Amino acid sequence: TIVPVILSGGSGTRLWPMSRPERPKQLLALTAEETMLQLTAQRTPGGERFAAPIVVANAAHADEVEAQLSAVGMAPSALILEPVGRNTAPAIALAAIAAGGGAAPLLVMPSDHVIADVAAFHRAIEAALPLVAEGWLVTFGITPDAPETGYGWIKIAEEIAGGVHRVERFVEKPPIERAQAMLAEGGHAWNGGIFLFRADRYLEVLGRESGPMVDAAGAAMDGARREGVRVWPDADAFARSPSDSIDYAVMEKAGRVAVVPVSMGWSDLGSWDALHAISERDNGGNAHAGEVIAVDTAGCFVKTDGVRVALVGVKDLIVVASGNDVLILPRGRSQEVKKIIEALKKA
Ligand code: GDD
Ligand code: MG
Repeated sequence: TIVPVILSGGSGTRLWPMSRPERPKQLLALTAEETMLQLTAQRTPGGERFAAPIVVANAAHADEVEAQLSAVGMAPSALILEPVGRNTAPAIALAAIAAGGGAAPLLVMPSDHVIADVAAFHRAIEAALPLVAEGWLVTFGITPDAPETGYGWIKIAEEIAGGVHRVERFVEKPPIERAQAMLAEGGHAWNGGIFLFRADRYLEVLGRESGPMVDAAGAAMDGARREGVRVWPDADAFARSPSDSIDYAVMEKAGRVAVVPVSMGWSDLGSWDALHAISERDNGGNAHAGEVIAVDTAGCFVKTDGVRVALVGVKDLIVVASGNDVLILPRGRSQEVKKIIEALKKA
């Protein structure tokens, strides 16, 4: 059986004002009635193929994470609660240790993505499993359609098993010129941010490339406090871990890395524009959620979780109201929400 590992530690600032430190993107319902975390957990239902998930989250979200999972009838085998965020590489190390550190395959999943075609996702996992057993690190590749600088890029080499290719090169978050060149060249995929590998192999590569990180994770788990499924790694030990992502710390450096190109309706949902793109829209291209009155509007994305929002005669606007905050911007500029976060930090 595969052990799903759900990473739920991000802060998702680009979806402000809905996402906030106390309620980041993965804990919000953005595309369905279920939250992103619930949708993620439901992709690997218990049974013969998948064990109960290990969830790694910020300690401040413990109650909310547990409540959301139990609301969809899921219980983690372990809920690892980080005292501080050290990015994904140490978070996954904690999970690999909690899983026993042996040959068990870990399926590492971000908790804030959309995958519309779950059957295609499952088929890609099956295709990868034989190589994973042999010690390969596997990632899932998305066909790129823009020179994205916020993703990892993969240069795809020859096919080594049905549907699985060797990775020639892994380039995390390239500068724009490089992204444009890779897009034009073809033969590249975006890294979907989902990984499949044996726990022992991950810890081995991480130990070689970043020994202090594995040492810190090991000490943190040795000194962990446990209560039911909840695990609190030792805070001092974990705080000593260097901070880095799996992409930089492991994927760019490891040998025997493979990719399964898969078309599964993937979206990273990294911005309000991305959410508009995948939302159901009316004839005028509008997507609304919450109490919205729109007269003669076109191409607008309007979302409110409280106050009523009314629009007349505008087009191509994003309007998001949450609590005491209202965000308004033209469609196409939602990456600039981070400027607002910066301004808020200064205020
Ligand atoms: N537990 C825990 N602790 N989870 C974390 C932490 C942490 O310190 N930091 C991030 N995460 C979670 C996030 O919540 C998210 O679900 C996932 O790990 C990935 O982190 P991101 O911060 O969203 O990474 P990214 O989007 O910049 O880049 C990754 O995803 C891209 C695709 O969306 C990379 O893997 C890229 O290569 C990839 O293209
Ligand atoms: Mg992300």
